[in-house]
Amino acid sequence: MTPEQFSQAVLDWYDRYGRKDLPWQQDINPYRVWVSEIMLQQTQVSTVLEYFPRFMTALPTLESLASASEDEVLHLWTGLGYYSRARNLHKTAKRLVAEHAGEFPQDIDQLTQLPGIGRSTAGAIAALSMGLRAPILDGNVKRVLARYLACDGYPGEPKIAAQLWAAAERLTPTSRVNHYTQAMMDLGATLCTRSKPDCPRCPLQNGCQAHRQGRQAELPVRKPRTSLPQKSTLMPVLVDSGHAVLLYRRPSSGLWGGLWSLPELNSADELDGLLSRHSLTASASQPMAGLVHTFSHFQLTIAPQLIHISRKDSAVAEADWLWYNLADPPRLGLAAPVKKLLKRAAEILNSGEAR
Ligand code: ADE
Ligand code: SF4
Repeated sequence: MTPEQFSQAVLDWYDRYGRKDLPWQQDINPYRVWVSEIMLQQTQVSTVLEYFPRFMTALPTLESLASASEDEVLHLWTGLGYYSRARNLHKTAKRLVAEHAGEFPQDIDQLTQLPGIGRSTAGAIAALSMGLRAPILDGNVKRVLARYLACDGYPGEPKIAAQLWAAAERLTPTSRVNHYTQAMMDLGATLCTRSKPDCPRCPLQNGCQAHRQGRQAELPVRKPRTSLPQKSTLMPVLVDSGHAVLLYRRPSSGLWGGLWSLPELNSADELDGLLSRHSLTASASQPMAGLVHTFSHFQLTIAPQLIHISRKDSAVAEADWLWYNLADPPRLGLAAPVKKLLKRAAEILNSGEAR
């Protein structure tokens, strides 16, 4: 699809299906569009439908907002949340009256200088109320474009955001930019939804790379997880001649609560203490492959070591400790990485026997 075909498809869709009855789509002027865009930033259309008319009745013009008390503005905002939006609205109105003769600047860069007006909101005000050819890239449009282009990067990353802005710029038509802009927002809100987009009804289906590649579900790329704090532990696998391994039960609260686990050591020095506590004598030891286990809030690197020990038959394990027979495992709850390590230990021991 060429940019012309893209915008024409969007405009044809707008003519057939676009919403034209919203209150901020009537008596259009920069003031009304601005207030509605700020309300719609973090609030659903259905809620704004309630607040917007009330706000406009109380404060119908930029001048009335500028001369209103902050209490009055916050009162009209009560229940909408994110009250810095209301304070910024008030500040911007005062500044426009004091410094811009009560007029909105017809310039994106100047609009973005105003409190609470980001680049996309500036674009929406310019396109919807001034007919200026200005791109927008709010959350909805970002999703549409990231999918349309099958953009393989996290849109929060400056490089990717710049690519999407460039695409938004390229695709914005020179005429009917107001209808195009409204339609792009509506497309993202109604068809190209985060989950289960309705591609069969989408006017962009022909040119959409995500649709072609069947990658709608994975695009836009989600925020990469910031790296988790790292912890490490040693896990001795103490195994006796009968292939029984020493396990202990985790306290019922906390990590792996109530599950059986291998003993954990902070350093190799602590091994002697563990052995004497259970009256064990170590003979040989062999290394095992390490393991990384990811918890919700940290990552644990486990360094296991297979240690052959001898123990007196008479020695009974303390409460919350047991000898787990690898050849005839009892049915009990094991921490996931421990289960994996016991399986590997059994494989090592069995292959040793086969030789
Ligand atoms: N969300 C943000 N701006 C909007 C608009 N003009 N119409 C509908 N939803 C929106
Ligand atoms: Fe979104 Fe589907 Fe349309 Fe592509 S075809 S823009 S994924 S709704």
